[in-house]
Amino acid sequence: MRRARIVGTGAYLPEEILTNHDLEALLDTSDEWIRKRTGIEERHRARDDEATSDMALPAAVQALENAGVAPEELDAVFFSTLSPDQFFPASGNLLQGRLGAVNAAACDINAACSGFVYGLATAQAFIESGLYKTILLVGADKSTSFLTFRHRDTDVLFADGAGAVVLKAEEGDRGVLSMYLGSDGANHEILTLPMGGSKRPLTPENINNDPWKITMEGREVFKRAVIKFCESIKIALDSTGLALEDIALFVPHQANARITDAVSERLGFPRDRVVSNINKVGNTIAASIPIALHEANMAGRIHEGDHVLIAAFGAGLTWGSSIIRW
Ligand code: ACO
Repeated sequence: MRRARIVGTGAYLPEEILTNHDLEALLDTSDEWIRKRTGIEERHRARDDEATSDMALPAAVQALENAGVAPEELDAVFFSTLSPDQFFPASGNLLQGRLGAVNAAACDINAACSGFVYGLATAQAFIESGLYKTILLVGADKSTSFLTFRHRDTDVLFADGAGAVVLKAEEGDRGVLSMYLGSDGANHEILTLPMGGSKRPLTPENINNDPWKITMEGREVFKRAVIKFCESIKIALDSTGLALEDIALFVPHQANARITDAVSERLGFPRDRVVSNINKVGNTIAASIPIALHEANMAGRIHEGDHVLIAAFGAGLTWGSSIIRW
């Protein structure tokens, strides 16, 4: 069977590190509160002049080098983000241009924190259909572009970064084995950033009205995330006929260490098979899975033939899971 196999990974984190203690100077919060409630100790912040595609570029170059693939070989560049450089054109187009991926189609995919899983599904579908052979998939977000560091309930969670994978068509049993995606748009209001789009544009009147306030029902997000993570993982296992013991590594979206712990505990996942880097990177939205995947790959935690499980939940609401045979 023709499958989409990940043949290279890359990641980029901006230089500046913002610790919880740094946030104490900006917000009515504490290192203890943030650590205890989220597991986050520090996160990276992009420079003011560093846009989302600027972070994606080094991640993409690294993934291409790691894969031994030249930019001209790419058939498509899919760019998962909820913080594109600008309204249009898409960050995917900007990246494609800077890479010199002259033979590639390009676009953005917005599924918030589930963006990488949605992007992987898109890449898998194009490859399995026979339409494309080689695809670059990026997950990148610059959430600090809409954080004002005035809202302690949300602004301690999110961070900046980029991750990338290169996928190639391959006959055989390695590659993406399962894919499951879900959405519950009827309950989108649990987590939104309503301002700035066509519904509430940034008019001179609106600009003074706290335009970058994320609305989040934290406890509701937490509860639903745990349920949907567990459901998605069970569906991935059922659809492949694999058991939990067959999964070498679980790479969840890094939303909150307590969410990852609750999911791992409910399913009985041993901690040494769960990737967690949220203490150092925070919640990097669409970038979180590819960054964690790249770190695990570089650390030699993934071997040929291993089953790697990824799962995510985020705004939309969206969620999804996939099992990949490495
Ligand atoms: N520092 C100090 N105090 C805070 C902070 C902060 N940063 N944020 C909120 N508080 C206060 C609240 O004001 C409240 O004070 P009060 O009791 O005087 O009213 C108190 O802490 C408790 O607030 P809760 O919101 O009830 O705290 P909770 O234990 O639910 O933790 C949290 C909040 C961490 C947001 C939690 O609900 C959570 O992790 N939810 C999931 C959200 C998430 O992961 N979002 C990421 C995007 S979605 C995704 O990636 C899946």
